[in-house]
Amino acid sequence: MRIDGKTRLYGIIGHPVGHSMSPAMHNAAFAATGINGVYVAMDVEDAGRAVRALRELGYIGVSVTVPHKEAVMAHVDEIDPVARRIGAVNTLFFYRGPGEKDVVVRGFNTDWQGSNLALAEKIRLAGSRVLVLGAGGAARAVGFGLVEAGAEVMISNRTEAKGRALARSLGCRFVAPERLAEVRGDVLVNTTPVGMTPHVDALPIDPALLPRFSLVMDIVYAPLETRLLREAAAAGCRVIDGLAMLQYQGAVQFKIWTGRQPPVEVMRRALLEQLQV
Ligand code: ATR
Repeated sequence: MRIDGKTRLYGIIGHPVGHSMSPAMHNAAFAATGINGVYVAMDVEDAGRAVRALRELGYIGVSVTVPHKEAVMAHVDEIDPVARRIGAVNTLFFYRGPGEKDVVVRGFNTDWQGSNLALAEKIRLAGSRVLVLGAGGAARAVGFGLVEAGAEVMISNRTEAKGRALARSLGCRFVAPERLAEVRGDVLVNTTPVGMTPHVDALPIDPALLPRFSLVMDIVYAPLETRLLREAAAAGCRVIDGLAMLQYQGAVQFKIWTGRQPPVEVMRRALLEQLQV
C-alpha cells in the first residue's frame, strides 16, 4: 500500500505516546484489508487544541490515550452513552452526516468492548461472577463492560475508598483485600499493574485462591505471560493475556472507522511483533 493523495488519516493522541503499539496494529489492519489509510502517533499536551486541529486537517479516526481520555470529552460533539457513563473516551470518529456541511466528532469508549470480546471468546458473560482487581481507569472500563454484558461484578482494591467508589458507580459489591478468601467466582480479571516488568514476581492475589476461578485475564502484557497467568494455568484455569483487550479494543475502533470487519488475527500478530522490538 502506497501513501498517495487519497490516503486517509488516522492516529493516536497522548502524552507521551512514542511507545504506543497502536500504529503497528492499525497500519497492519489497513494493509491486510487494502484500505488506503495511515495511522500515526501524535504527542499532544492539550486535547482540545488537538481535536480542533484534527477536525480541520480532515482526520477520520483517532485513538485517545493517557492523559487525555477524560479531558477530550469536553471537546467532542457527541458521546456514545456507555462512554459517557464510564467517563472516558478512547476513540474519536470524525464524520459528515448525510447532507451535513460540517464534520461531527463522536467519542466512543472501545476499552470495555475490548475486554468483553476478549472474555466472550472463552466464556458466556451473562450470569458469570467476575472478580475485578483494581479500581483505576482500566477497572472502570472493564467493570462497566461486564455490567453491560449482564455479569455479576465484584471489585477488590488496595485502597478501600477508591474501590468502594467504583463499586458504587457500578452498582456492585466491594470486597476488601483481606476478605478475598471468602469470594467465589467464575472469572478473575487483574487490572492493576502488579506483575508488570520489572516486578515480574509480584502477584495481585494469593495464588491459593486461583483454583476457584475457571478463567483468569490479566491486562498486563509485559511480560505477556505474567506470573499470575502462569500460576492460573498451573491451577487449571483458562487464561487470557494482556494483548487480547488491546487487540479487541482496536478491532472495534477499526469497525467504527471503516465499517469493515477487522482482521483480528493480523492485529494480534502486529502487537506481538511490537512486544519483541
Ligand atoms: P489505570 O488507569 O491504568 O487503571 P490507575 O488509575 O493508576 O491505572 O489504577 C491502578 C490500579 O492498580 C489502582 O486500583 C491501584 O490501587 P490503589 O487504588 O490502591 O492505588 C492498583 N495498584 C497499583 N499498584 C498496586 C500494587 N502494588 N498493589 C495493589 N494494587 C495496586
